[in-house]
Amino acid sequence: MLKATAAASIFLALLFFFLPYSARTGLSCPTPRVDLGRDQHQQHSNTDHDRNNGKNVIPNQVHFVYILPDSSSNNTTTRDFSFEFSHFLSIYAAWHHWRPRTIYLHTNVAANGPEVARARNGTVGKWNHYIFTLFGTSLAINTVPVPTHAANGKPLQNMEHKSDFVRVKAVHDMGGVYIDWDVHALRDIRPLRESGFRAIGGRQLGGQINSGTFMAQPRAKMVRLWMEQMHEAYNGGWTTHSNEVITRVGQRLGREPGEMLILEREAFAPGSWRDEDTDDLFRVHDDTPSNLPGNYTEGMALPAHDEDFETRWAHPERFRDWERDWSHTYMLHAFTPTRWKHEVDGFEHITPRYVLARQSNFARAVYPVAKILYDKGLIRVGDSHTGF
Ligand SMILES: *[C@@H]1O[C@H](CO)[C@@H](O)[C@H](O)[C@H]1NC(C)=O
Ligand SMILES: *[C@@H]1O[C@H](CO)[C@@H](O)[C@H](O)[C@H]1NC(C)=O
Ligand SMILES: *[C@@H]1O[C@H](CO)[C@@H](O)[C@H](O)[C@H]1NC(C)=O
Ligand SMILES: *[C@@H]1O[C@H](CO)[C@@H](O)[C@H](O)[C@H]1NC(C)=O
Repeated sequence: MLKATAAASIFLALLFFFLPYSARTGLSCPTPRVDLGRDQHQQHSNTDHDRNNGKNVIPNQVHFVYILPDSSSNNTTTRDFSFEFSHFLSIYAAWHHWRPRTIYLHTNVAANGPEVARARNGTVGKWNHYIFTLFGTSLAINTVPVPTHAANGKPLQNMEHKSDFVRVKAVHDMGGVYIDWDVHALRDIRPLRESGFRAIGGRQLGGQINSGTFMAQPRAKMVRLWMEQMHEAYNGGWTTHSNEVITRVGQRLGREPGEMLILEREAFAPGSWRDEDTDDLFRVHDDTPSNLPGNYTEGMALPAHDEDFETRWAHPERFRDWERDWSHTYMLHAFTPTRWKHEVDGFEHITPRYVLARQSNFARAVYPVAKILYDKGLIRVGDSHTGF
């Protein structure tokens, strides 16, 4: 009996070993993950605990926050999630590069409520449908009460500020990585999460630490102090309770071993909200040929544009003078130009066509992930930014 069992398990182990990778994940993971076709660097999320005994590691989970506006009880108009292509690209890049064990979506509607149902079943467009269906049970919808006032009694003035309070509490309580919806993962951040630092942030233009990208272990001192002090600091100013507090607390904690690592601006927020920076990021360079050939037909194979380590030095002629090297950027915080109604040459919306054409710095940064989506048939060049 024992021998038979042992033989059977050896057989199963061998079988498992020799199965193609996609079949293996199908066996070991009840909800197939969407892009497990890659050959390296996958499935590391569940090993955090084993390798590090659960200590000194920022957990591999990502937090997103999306607060829907309140609908009064006699307002029959429906409120809905309104994610666009760029938001889908953001969440998918985090999924692809980081392999998080859970993606938390902190929101003010119920997971089984009509808003989520409409997003899921495609009523509010393709991108909402993907965000709510593609990640299977790895997407956890966490319904949170939305704060209305800071502890100092001041009413929170807008959605962004409410989100600020929700995000800090989420990372404080659970640990993990927080990113805004306009942040695009360009590579894995596992080496950062496992560096031993209990909290990590990055500078932005002007030197403050940006509150749109940060990560921490649960109850790390940095997020605890930030969570406490933001309630006192809140005065309705755009970043008084956010960037200003994380900067003050984060810098002060440099003196306490392992509490806070502050990365340079290029790491998370190489651009900025200034016109020249949004131009630099989003401008369409018509003098550079589109990656989509003139005889393009939907579904046609597109080139990969992989870049070797040496290429920039060995073949400088292959690069445009406007083209940035994103090698030292882990996440690209792509501050939108539209918030201040600034118009960027040739740019209207982040659409599949805009990204796949590869005629801007933004497009070139996110192209590898967009190409994966394109190759899977999930995006089409003709898709709109709204998904309708
Ligand atoms: C219903 O709407 C009206 C006007 O839009 C408003 O005055 C009233 O307070 C609302 N009632 C409730 C119960 O929300
Ligand atoms: C009803 O709710 C919708 C969605 O939140 C909002 O756009 C609209 O202005 C509201 N209408 C009234 C009369 O409050
Ligand atoms: C989508 O879900 C909503 C809310 O449950 C429902 O009212 C609607 O009929 C559904 N639409 C489709 C196409 O299934
Ligand atoms: C598209 O045009 C290129 C030359 O510009 C040509 O090499 C290629 O075969 C054409 N593809 C199709 C599908 O017509």
